[in-house]
Amino acid sequence: MSDAALPIQASPEADILSALGARSIVLVGMMGVGKSTIGRRMALRLKLPFIDADTEIEAAAGMTIPEIFERHGEAHFRDGETRVIARLLDGGPIVLATGGGAFMREETRGRIAAKAISIWLKADHDVIMRRVRRRADRPLLQTADPEGTVTRLLIEREPVYGKADLTIASRDVPHDRIVDETIETLRAHLCGEKAAPQPPADVASAVR
Ligand code: S3P
Repeated sequence: MSDAALPIQASPEADILSALGARSIVLVGMMGVGKSTIGRRMALRLKLPFIDADTEIEAAAGMTIPEIFERHGEAHFRDGETRVIARLLDGGPIVLATGGGAFMREETRGRIAAKAISIWLKADHDVIMRRVRRRADRPLLQTADPEGTVTRLLIEREPVYGKADLTIASRDVPHDRIVDETIETLRAHLCGEKAAPQPPADVASAVR
């Protein structure tokens, strides 16, 4: 076969972009699972804009998330979060990292289902604890017992995060490995193929 007759080599990124259309990619999951880090790298690979919903909420409010919680309370923050995510989803395709509580709202889940593919970055309790200890700016963890709070939130939230279209095990391996797995799982999903099995979060978190 001459070179001219060879089919153009499709890349997984090109496959994803053409199947995605105007839909966005939305990363959901607990604090500390790496939604922003992985999202930013995925956006670079896919040449899509990356947006962090928390950063947008802070810009819209003109104050930090701890300040919003302190001055106006969590309910006010959640309403703002719902509005900001709705606006961002109207401007797709983007890669969007959401705050850990965003997917808990049915209204937001409905919008994400209509306008995006959702990916749950799932990490186990120990991985989350190690990572959230590095930052003290998460109002929900300013409790006497942050470990207990994370346990409670995981019990409440995991069944809901499980409604995402795809689940990826987030764990302490190089970020690019998680990005590769996410890209491949997403490509297979969008192309109607069965994805290669990925390591489950609880087993994989032991691989450090
Ligand atoms: C929250 C997670 C935070 C932020 C806010 C509430 C939550 O975002 O939205 O502090 O309810 O889990 P990250 O998941 O990016 O830390």
